[in-house]
Amino acid sequence: MKRMIIAIDGYSACGKSTLAKALGKVLHFAYIDTGAMYRAVTLYFLRHSVDLNDVKQVQNALANIEIHFERQKTGNHVFLNGEDIETEIRKMYVSESVSQVAVLSDVRRQMVRLQQAMGQRRSLIMDGRDIGTVVFPKADLKIFLTADPTIRTKRRVDELKSKGQIIDFEAVKQNLLERDRIDSTRSDSPLRQAEDAILIDNTQLTPDEQLQKVLELVAVLDKQLVF
Ligand code: CDP
Repeated sequence: MKRMIIAIDGYSACGKSTLAKALGKVLHFAYIDTGAMYRAVTLYFLRHSVDLNDVKQVQNALANIEIHFERQKTGNHVFLNGEDIETEIRKMYVSESVSQVAVLSDVRRQMVRLQQAMGQRRSLIMDGRDIGTVVFPKADLKIFLTADPTIRTKRRVDELKSKGQIIDFEAVKQNLLERDRIDSTRSDSPLRQAEDAILIDNTQLTPDEQLQKVLELVAVLDKQLVF
């Protein structure tokens, strides 16, 4: 199969990582969750009380951050300075601060550099907000996912519940909508659909149905593939 970069962008909790993980499994491609990287930076900033308005403090903190992924039995885990923080970064207190951290150009520059390096010389599926527009503008396939906000909230509440976190439905919904607002209106690489991205609304689709749709698009790109 030819080398391929697949970019998946879209709103909060609309199933990007579910799709990316499933695609990675079928195609045997690496999968990178860029949201986990912004969450890792946010966790570091919260732990060290970094003042987001102080550029020097932000830059010093970034110089002390090392982020990488390791494959574990339960999937890819993100590591911050050697610590597995996969569980911690999904908690609500991180979700409540991450979009304020992700507006910072210094943060974005460092993450984008890392993400582009990960896509050198190999096939990759990457999900986030600016993958098709900024990180890999020449990606072979760009998907822009969307879904009804109430469905997205239900899915996220269920996901948190399965991890033992009981969070109020309205609190989760407000967080998703607020992140979408900040992510879409920031000046540096706002969340938007790339002109050549394919829009998929998965409100009425099961994870398998959305996977099949994207596999059909991949098969068009790589004529040798049969699923
Ligand atoms: O899983 P969920 O869709 O809720 O969020 P995520 O993908 O973990 O991303 C968390 C936050 O990181 C987003 O709300 C954005 O503020 C930021 N982000 C970003 O700015 N650019 C990316 N490429 C990925 C995430």
